[in-house]
Amino acid sequence: MSDSSVSDTVREAILAFQAEPGGLMPALWAVQNVLGYIPEEEVPTIAKAMNQSVAEVHGVISFYHDFKSRPPAAHTVKICRAEACQAMGGRRLQAFAEQQLGVEFDQASSSAVALESVYCLGLCACAPAAMVDGKLVAKLDEDRLATILAGLHGKGANNG
Ligand code: FES
Repeated sequence: MSDSSVSDTVREAILAFQAEPGGLMPALWAVQNVLGYIPEEEVPTIAKAMNQSVAEVHGVISFYHDFKSRPPAAHTVKICRAEACQAMGGRRLQAFAEQQLGVEFDQASSSAVALESVYCLGLCACAPAAMVDGKLVAKLDEDRLATILAGLHGKGANNG
């Protein structure tokens, strides 16, 4: 999508909320729903349209964890960091995942694979557990995780 096309998309997404009191939150959600994130370079446009300061809009985006300032990764690996999984080798698995992907948990990154924390997936009896692109994985170990990550790279992800 070209820069002007992104700008047009943002303007269109927020149009319905400009006259609404308290319209900033729904306007930001509208942008994220359309683009998958809220482009940094569009914040001044959003601020002007919503009659807010750039700092105020930045403040809202950074306060709410669900707002993304970067395009979403092509793949998401969520690894359970709760107790039962920790007790079954979860910490070692977490370190392995960070090392393999070259990203830290829950950090914005340009990697094609996002690494996210989750606290219990309901698979405690089959720990450690993870969710890869929405699919549950039980009894995960480093070998299986390496195979899964290699498969993601085969689907268009690359590490860096
Ligand atoms: S603690 Fe990990 S799935 Fe429940």
